[in-house]
Parts: sequence; C-alpha cells; structure tokens
Amino acid sequence: MQSSELTKRKKLPLAPVGVIIFGATGDLATKKLFPSLARLFADGHLRDFFIVGLSRQNLNNETFRNYVASAVGPKYADSNFLSKIEFVQGDFSSPESFQNLGERIAKIDDVRGVCSDKVYYLAVPPILYGELLENLATSGLTVTCGGLSRIAIEKPFGSNYLQAQVLDKKLSVYFKENEIYRIDHYLAKETIQNILTFRFSNSIFPPLFTSEHIERIEAVFSEKNVVGSRAGFYESVGALLDVGQNHILQMVAAVTMENPGEILPASIRTLRAEAISRFTFEGKDGDLTVGQYDGYRDEHGVASISTTETFFKMKFKIIGGILDGVPVTATSGKGLAESRASVSVFFKKGDCTHQNILTFWIQPNEGIAINFYSKAPGFTKKLASKMLDFSYSEEKDVRLPDAYERVLFDLLRGDETLFGSTDEVMASWRFITPVLEMAKKLPLMRYNQGTLVEELF
Ligand code: BG6
Repeated sequence: MQSSELTKRKKLPLAPVGVIIFGATGDLATKKLFPSLARLFADGHLRDFFIVGLSRQNLNNETFRNYVASAVGPKYADSNFLSKIEFVQGDFSSPESFQNLGERIAKIDDVRGVCSDKVYYLAVPPILYGELLENLATSGLTVTCGGLSRIAIEKPFGSNYLQAQVLDKKLSVYFKENEIYRIDHYLAKETIQNILTFRFSNSIFPPLFTSEHIERIEAVFSEKNVVGSRAGFYESVGALLDVGQNHILQMVAAVTMENPGEILPASIRTLRAEAISRFTFEGKDGDLTVGQYDGYRDEHGVASISTTETFFKMKFKIIGGILDGVPVTATSGKGLAESRASVSVFFKKGDCTHQNILTFWIQPNEGIAINFYSKAPGFTKKLASKMLDFSYSEEKDVRLPDAYERVLFDLLRGDETLFGSTDEVMASWRFITPVLEMAKKLPLMRYNQGTLVEELF
C-alpha cells in the first residue's frame, strides 16, 4: 500500500448535493455536523450544495441560520454558507412533516435548476430510526428526481444483535447497500487511517505483526468528561455500547487486520470485518469489570438507581489469522483523570531484556510513538529508554481535519471506505453480545471522578 493511495480518494468528484439533517438542533448536529460542514465550505470542499435541517423546534430559516452561525462560531459563519441552509419544522413520526420536507427539497432543486444527490443524515437517537425510515420511504423522499440518495446512520447501529438485524433488513428495503453509510467517526480519525499506512508502507513492520512477535495489545479510551448534556442518550447505551462495540473495536481492528494490498473500499471493509470476527470474548472470571462514577445518578435524565456502566475493562483474544492467540485488553471510562485514546502493541522481549511498545495516539493528540533502548551516554553500560515519535499537532501549517469533516467529505462524494459494512456491524454485535450478558451479572463498582484509569479495580 502506498500512502499516496489515501489521498487519491479525495479526487472523487462532488456532484450537486443536498444534505438533509434530521435532529438539526441536537447535540451532534450542533457540535459536530454544522461546524464540520462550515469548515469544509471554508476550505473550498463544498460548492454546489444546500442543507435542510429538520427538528421540532419552533424556528424558521432566519432564526435557524442564526442558530447555525453561533454553532460554527464567527470565523466560519460565512453568509454564503449560511444562505444555503434552510429549516423545516417537523416531527419524525409525522408523515405530514415528511411531505413538507419533500416539497421544500423539490422547491430548492427547482430554483437551483438541478436534480441534486440527496444525503439523509440521521442525527437522532437510535430509538427513532424505525419510524423515521418508514416515513422517509413512504413519503417518496428516497426516490429522487434522478440523483443518488444516501443515508447516514450513527453508531450504535441498533441496540442489540437482533435489533441490528431488523434495522439492517428495514434499511435494505429502502436503500441499496452502497447507499447506506454506517458511521463510526473513529474510522475517519487520521491516526486510524494512518495505522494501515504505517503498518503496510514501512517494510520493517509487516514481519513483526504476528503472534510470534506480539505479546499483547492494549486499547485505552479514557475521558475526563462526564456525560453532561448527553446523559439522556448515554443512560440507554452505557460505555460498552457507546464506545466498546465500535470505536474500541475499530482501534484494535486497525492494528490487527491483514494487509488490504490496495485501498479499495470493498477489500478494506472485508478485512476489517474479518479482523473483528476474530475477536473472541471467553467470559472467564476477571475478563470484564464494569463501574460507574459517583455523581452519575445525579445527572439530568439518569435514573436514581441507574445501573448503566460508565467504565469497563474487558479482556479478549484474537483467534485465527496472523495474530492468533494474542490477548487484548480494552479499557474505557468517563469522568476519569485524563483524556486519552490510544492503542499500544507490546512486542515480546525475545532474547532482549526490555520491551518495545508501539503506540498509536488518537487523544489528546494524534500521532505515533515507539520506545526503544539505547546506551546511556558516558562511562556506563546502562540503558536509556528513548522515544521515536511524531505528533500531527507539531506539524506547522497543517490543519488536522476533525473526523466529522472526513466523514462528511467522503459521505458527500460516495466513498464508503471509512464506513462500516453490514458484516462489520454484525461482527461487532456478535462480539459484544456475550460481553453485555456478562456485564448484567457483575457488580457495578463505584469510582470517584478524576480517578486514574490505571488505579481502577
Ligand atoms: C462518541 C461517543 O462517539 O465519541 C462519546 O458517543 C465520546 O461518548 C466521543 O465522547 C469521543 O470522540 P472524540 O472524537 O472526541 O474522541
């Protein structure tokens, strides 16, 4: 794989496109989608487009544009960008709202004199997907004037294995597989993309990525933040579904998947799905710990007797493939001492006395580091531990796009590489189902906010 292949994908043309955001005043749209769209516009990546936001709030085009302006901040609140945004007040359960939406979209296309591609972005809680999809289809919105239509769905995809199958079936009635974009924004993180480039474009690494050389893998996803304004949503998912079933698995899949040879969406997605299906949770004593931070039950929208986990530590193994038998530990929690997302590969010591560890960093800064040992200077035989590392944040004049910019950039152009396939999503449900079953039977440990992840349980 050549690193230039990643950039090659950017050349896909962008046809005239309309982005329709359901849940346009929600947390995701406000904090991520609009700021990312505004930055793509500022960087010249969005030209022939319009955006329609749908939400229950009592807004009109003008007040909604003001809302978006404050969401994107003064630097990006460009009047040309804002003028492309319209608002439709509506309820996801009301066919009439979808009719209004359809009429508005048709009118915008008429005025612009084009039949745009349509991207429907479901920035709403998963519980609303079913009804919303039905209304979307029965209103005829998915049958466009001739342009393509795509649907973007956020993780967690369904709330258990069976529901994920039902959702997948429902989606396949209205959309073809190549029109369905299952989002896990961690796939769009520079470092996750870079793991493959790093592993397969540097000849010294592929021979080392086997169970003969790797002792274990550790993924850490710790956050200082508590759940805050997302408490209502979080209460229904918990840490295992919020990040365990998706971001963490994708981090580990990137370091364990086989060489795709070239970056073709189909081969990458197949190999990612195969990597995830090799993750095996045995459910032995000590393979899972779950906890909840003190104060979680006082968050707005959380039950006073909530048993939702805000922390977990799980141990599993890779069975099959080049890393057969390699153990993995994945730890994640909210309300912890530091924000860190990383995946580390611990190499076997072999005949050496010290261990080399290769770490891919996603938070707080994206980058890669490897420790090694050299002779301490002077009249000594002692070893000194040193780091070879780089961080994107140290690269001047490079603006690292937010993962959601990449998600939207690819979604609007129809590049599926960084989106989950049915097989991937189902493989992650097959993995997490016994973990969730075990979690239900375990005592929920309590921890103080600000605890160091290493100190937990
Ligand atoms: C989201 C989770 O998918 O990812 C959040 O729902 C989490 O709970 C977030 O905070 C972390 O993303 P990032 O991009 O800030 O590392």
